[in-house]
Amino acid sequence: MIELIKEMPKAELHLHIEGSLEPELMFQLAKRNNINLPYANEEELRKAYEFGNLQDFLDIYYAGCNVLIYEQDFYDLTIAYFRKAKEQSIIHTEIFFDPQSHTSRGIAMETIVKGIRRAMKEAEVQWDISSYLILSFLRHLSEESAIETLEAALAMKDEFIAVGLDSTELGNPPEKFRNVFEMAAKHGLLKVAHGGEEGPAQYIWDSLSILKIDRLDHGNRAMEDVDLLKKLAEQKIGLTLCPLSNLKLQVVKNLMNHPIKKMLDLGLLVTVNSDDPSYFGGYINENFEAITNALDLSKTDIKKLAANSFNVSFASASRKQEMLLELEEYFDN
Ligand code: ADE
Ligand code: ZN
Repeated sequence: MIELIKEMPKAELHLHIEGSLEPELMFQLAKRNNINLPYANEEELRKAYEFGNLQDFLDIYYAGCNVLIYEQDFYDLTIAYFRKAKEQSIIHTEIFFDPQSHTSRGIAMETIVKGIRRAMKEAEVQWDISSYLILSFLRHLSEESAIETLEAALAMKDEFIAVGLDSTELGNPPEKFRNVFEMAAKHGLLKVAHGGEEGPAQYIWDSLSILKIDRLDHGNRAMEDVDLLKKLAEQKIGLTLCPLSNLKLQVVKNLMNHPIKKMLDLGLLVTVNSDDPSYFGGYINENFEAITNALDLSKTDIKKLAANSFNVSFASASRKQEMLLELEEYFDN
């Protein structure tokens, strides 16, 4: 089964590019940009990756962002992820970036977007990996700051496909970002939001009704509300689950308690993703492998998870068809 997973064509729909920054590249960029890291070496840094909750992780994740300064840094970060994606048979990916964690340090929006997009275009030509970029607002900051961020990015509107919402969930409900999501919709952007990772099921209801999301990131706590599960199934909302992230951030105590198999059996359009692979100990294939072992997933389950990743992606209808056909052919052989 592990061999089957490795070469299976798949899409990744929940990946924070800043969360793919490996310690080796972090130290390399720190040296290049003359930035002092509060760790002596990569090993010491890795030892700090023990998290009691989401906030513990976010504190370290934002600190790591400080090494990213120039367009080339954002390019190097992104191309490193694509190299990994190619190795793991990802054929389509939709990447989050957190502009506010960089613009707040004086980095221009253009610098960030140009670096990331250059790598995306190169990966499409070199490795046949299609991709989209999703501009994510930090929910611990104000809606005013999110609006400023969107306005700064609108000059490059064709470079990204959707807006998202991440960072500290508890205490920062969807309602806080009603206006900026409305603005994004008016500009033709799609909408996603993290919800139900640590926050209650009500935040998922509000992401649907107030933010009018096209896809839900995480969604674990939907399991607490039968009516919500029904609604997610009826509305054919895709869910981007992140098993190893949930384990590392103690959203689940054990992967045997992970809701993905139950959700799959309920007919929800769930997918497998890595979230912040450098921090959580695995890329997409390691996530597939971990839940396959913990939940005893069948070949049919695994194929369905991959098919879902194409179906709930933002790819065009023709690209979806092409990817689904590739999956069929893979399983036929
Ligand atoms: N930013 C990066 N990873 C995140 C996660 N898992 N939840 C919320 N914000 C994030
Ligand atoms: Zn995330």
